Parts: sequence; structure tokens; C-alpha cells
Amino acid sequence: MDISHASSLSKTDALALRYGEDAIPAAGPWNDAIALLASHRSIRGYRSDALPDGTLETLIAAAQSAATSSNLQTWSVIAVTDPEKKAAIARLSAGQKHIEQCPLFLAWIADTARNERLGAEEGVTLEVLPYLETFLVAAIDAALAAQNAVVAAESIGLSTVYIGAMRNNALEVAKILGLPQGTIGVFGLCVGYAAPGVANEVKPRLPQEAILFHDTYGTPNESKLRADYDAKMAAFSARNDMTQDTWSRRVIGRMGKIAALGGRDRLVAALNAMGFPLR
Ligand SMILES: Cc1cc2nc3c(=O)[nH]c(=O)nc-3n(C[C@H](O)[C@H](O)[C@H](O)COP(=O)(O)O)c2cc1C
Repeated sequence: MDISHASSLSKTDALALRYGEDAIPAAGPWNDAIALLASHRSIRGYRSDALPDGTLETLIAAAQSAATSSNLQTWSVIAVTDPEKKAAIARLSAGQKHIEQCPLFLAWIADTARNERLGAEEGVTLEVLPYLETFLVAAIDAALAAQNAVVAAESIGLSTVYIGAMRNNALEVAKILGLPQGTIGVFGLCVGYAAPGVANEVKPRLPQEAILFHDTYGTPNESKLRADYDAKMAAFSARNDMTQDTWSRRVIGRMGKIAALGGRDRLVAALNAMGFPLR
């Protein structure tokens, strides 16, 4: 059983990489599975090597083992390996080269169409289908499933990166993937072996005090915690050739202007066009 490199790290070392030496949380129980989770990092450069036979099916078994709201299973996944389709999706997803490089690109689909077909075959109108709640259920379930696939992939020495930019041009992507009404791609996932020399450091996160509250929302220390984290991310960014150096600048860069949405400001229209009125 390959739990990848995770099990070689002690709890303290793994937490120091995730939070920095000065913000190691007082974590208790620990095992190889948690060490694997704590050592996650996105990878944006891939070797072209094919995956071992059955890898896709293994990842999907992990994905389908995630919890799913009311067992509705309102998601599907499309394994894209056709180089032309991957190139087209890459072009529509801010030109991210790793989509073309990776041997397996998984397009995760919020899918209420299967249940709609069930209703049609049973002669029943599923009244909840047009509601925002139903889309949210489908998108959440797709994300939970995909994250199980990510963990499974990392546990066998593979790397991944999510592709939210697949929503930049959701209708064009839908055409490429042959998506019917009642479905939409919510994000992609590159899967493969990390190329040599690709920056491979664990990215620090906010200290737990900034996001973990007890009984009531909030912490009085948020500004200081953010400043400390900005310093950590600046150092991380310098070591990893990232453009925006602090976390604050990255958030502002990503959330400060509509243009940063890369076309996702048109998402409601795309959802409507794909048969999600979002009532
Ligand atoms: C839903 C989702 C969409 C993402 N989309 C992209 C993307 O389009 N391109 C990319 O390079 N990274 C993407 N990421 C990866 C994040 O940038 C990454 O997880 C974050 O910077 C933290 O880094 P880490 O995963 O290495 O810890 C996405 C992550 C998530 C969860």
C-alpha cells in the first residue's frame, strides 16, 4: 500500500510545513492518512507517462465512496484523454498548459439530468430540479467526490491540480463534452506524474485561529494573524516564483476586479442556458 511520501513525515514536521514553525496547532491523533492530507500540494507540470491500467477506475471508486446528499448522486465525471479535446479545454481555461500535459483530465459535472430522466421514465415531474438548492447539492457532491479522487491519487504517488477555470467558458466546454440540459462542468482536475523540477512545496495556510472558532464566529486577532500569514506567503512566493507575494495581495488580485473572474461573471447565464433556472 503506497501512501506516497506522506508517511515519512512526523506530525510536527507535517504541521510545520502546513502552518509554519510558529503556528503549529496542538493536533492530537495522527496517522499516515492524515499525514497524506497534510502534505497535499497542487502540481502544475506533468510528465506525459500513461497511468497504470485501472487507475481511472480506482480513482472513481474513491470518488463514488464520498458521501452524497440523500444518495441522489447528482454528479458525473468525464475522463478526457483525447489530446484535441484537452487542448480545446486548455484554451478555454485561461490557456493552462498542464491540462494538455497531464495524461488524464477529469471534468467534474454537476448532473441533475440523470435524475430528471429517472423522473421522465417514471412519469413524475421532479419539482425540486429548478431550484438553486438542487444545483448546490450537485456542485457540492461533485466537489466531495473529486476531493476523494485527489486524496486517492496522492496516496498512490500521483499529483493533481483542480481547474476552476473550466467555468470561464462553461457553455463552450459543455459543447466539447457533449453535455445535455441539466448538467454543467463545475471544475476540472489534472491527474498525472509531476514533472521533474516543478515547484513542489506545501503551501502554508492561515493559522487555525483565523478559521476555527468555538461556539461563536470570529477572532479579535484577525488583522495580526493575516499580517503574520502574509509574511509567510511572501516567503513562500519568493521560493516558488509566484507573482503576487502576500496572501492579501493575492486575494485582492483575485477578488478586486470583475475581470479576474475570467468570464465566470457570465456563469448564471450559462447555468440558465444549461437548464438550471436557480429558483
Ligand atoms: C475548485 C478549485 C479550482 C481551482 N482552479 C485552479 C485553476 O484553474 N488553476 C490552477 O492552477 N489552480 C487551481 N486551483 C488550485 C488552487 O490554486 C490551490 O489549491 C491553492 O492555491 C492552494 O494550493 P495547494 O493546493 O498547493 O495547497 C483550484 C483549486 C480548487 C479547489
